[in-house]
Amino acid sequence: MCGIVGYAGKRRAAPLLYAGLKRLEYRGYDSAGIATLAEKIEVKKCTGPVANLRAAVDLKGTCGIGHTRWATHGAPTAANAHPHVYGRFAVVHNGIIENDRALRKMCEARGESFSSETDSEVIAHLLERLYRGDLLEALKRVASVLEGSYALAVLCADEPGKIALAREKSPLVLGRGKLGNFLASDVPALVGACLEICPLRDGEFALITESEVTMSEGERFISPDWLPLERGRGESGKAGHAHYMEKEICEIPAALCRSRETASGAVFSRVREELCAAKNIRLVACGTAYHASLAAKYAFEKLARVPAEVTVASEFRYQDPILSENSAVIAVSQSGETADTLAAAKLAKERGAKVIAVVNEARSSLSALADETLPINAGREVCVAATKSYVAQLSVLYTLAASVAEAQGRRGYGDLLSELPSLARETVKAGRAVGGWAPHFAAARSAYFIGRGADAVTALEGSLKLKEVSYLPSEGYPAGELKHGTLALIEEGTPVVAVLTSQELAEKTMNAVHETRARGAKVFLVTSIPAYAGEKGLTGCVVIPPCTEVYSPALAAIPLQLLAYYVALARGCDPDKPRNLAKSVTVE
Ligand code: AGP
Repeated sequence: MCGIVGYAGKRRAAPLLYAGLKRLEYRGYDSAGIATLAEKIEVKKCTGPVANLRAAVDLKGTCGIGHTRWATHGAPTAANAHPHVYGRFAVVHNGIIENDRALRKMCEARGESFSSETDSEVIAHLLERLYRGDLLEALKRVASVLEGSYALAVLCADEPGKIALAREKSPLVLGRGKLGNFLASDVPALVGACLEICPLRDGEFALITESEVTMSEGERFISPDWLPLERGRGESGKAGHAHYMEKEICEIPAALCRSRETASGAVFSRVREELCAAKNIRLVACGTAYHASLAAKYAFEKLARVPAEVTVASEFRYQDPILSENSAVIAVSQSGETADTLAAAKLAKERGAKVIAVVNEARSSLSALADETLPINAGREVCVAATKSYVAQLSVLYTLAASVAEAQGRRGYGDLLSELPSLARETVKAGRAVGGWAPHFAAARSAYFIGRGADAVTALEGSLKLKEVSYLPSEGYPAGELKHGTLALIEEGTPVVAVLTSQELAEKTMNAVHETRARGAKVFLVTSIPAYAGEKGLTGCVVIPPCTEVYSPALAAIPLQLLAYYVALARGCDPDKPRNLAKSVTVE
């Protein structure tokens, strides 16, 4: 969730750390800080975005650590911002220390006072207590008493030029480049500065200096497994768009084209075999990736007639899932770092299931854990709200479902997917019309999204997107379920978005539309059936191109993403950085 950067080299650290934090800001943006070590540790912190830390670039020293925060323990104040300094130590931490209360009490009982409300500060206190002249050894001792998750980077005033690192259930990557050695919680921070990277695994420690990187697991030294950092992994700015969200929606057709490359590899064939042989298929994911999984269930069952079960990843391990070596678990995650999805995938592996990761970040913790990885190739997504990655996830999952169907003699569904990129291009164009709907939503108290069949999934995703970026309370509902309770919330002027792409279910969806209209709702229709565009009483309608009903969420989501974007603007919200959220949710 939070972002970590670090540098030990020949150059001044602060400007490099600042640039790295700017690139990581999507991970959290409520406060930030940098600590450098020259003769002594110097720290600068700020609340709000990383730009507020501009003055920190003056800090001296060629070794330092930085952090951008997404608050878990304690409000987003400067005191709670990292790095936390105690005695000779400065610490940046991602994750949650679950036994922090007990540890803090112990420190307080010794007369130590704390300057923040965070769980992280206790790590600096423990380091000071357990240091015996060797930074890395002290960090190992501290790690042995910590419970929870952490990615840690630590400076010690007694050991200039060194940064010690530890990882447990929170991502951390080493990088080396011409200017020296780096570390980061996430690869994008290293793009441009490093030529090679090496992700740490859970339980591993490292020590970096200007010229050396040493890695260990317990007492055993291990040699870093350096991987080339491809150029072009960075994003190219907003490319003339006002926001990343808009840019990334416009990139959907290109993302769909690239997502199709996944189907041509050997990994894809192996995954298809696994799925065909599996006795049960389960999908686990969170948020938007969960919605993509719901749409995939629909495709596996409709096209391949194979049952598939979908579980919100945060609930999976608490349901004591029934799994065996005959189970295939598909873990869907844009970042590949979502703690709940990782935990679900880990449990699935422990129970003998084959784990298939469907990710946008191919070098993520999830792919390292999974038996197979299918990249969705959406390209880097900066906006916190997932847009192009959702559609690319759908594309890869549909391709899988179509190929399992084909293996069973149900042919032709794969070919239909080749039309999606050009249909998406038309949809982005047509979808822009929802900009005119925004004022109706901007002034409303709440909004509702309804649909049936695959359209019910689009309704859920449309509602999530609207909440996320415009803060307008909203619900997505299967249209037929509305009258069983939620209809009570519809009043004069309530905006209701109906999604209608299934000819078979069209009249049934329209019944729900009439029921809401009769209670005063303003109804906005997203449909691929032009005949319904002329329906009386609609406040707005967008016609999107028709495609096979099962695949329709890949297109119908686009106008709803655009709607969320325009409503966010109309309500004065920054769609790229919704409050309280972060791009990658690395805590449980
Ligand atoms: C999507 O708009 C959200 N930001 C969020 O629901 C996200 O999809 C969820 O946190 C899962 O993230 P992941 O795909 O990186 O695992």
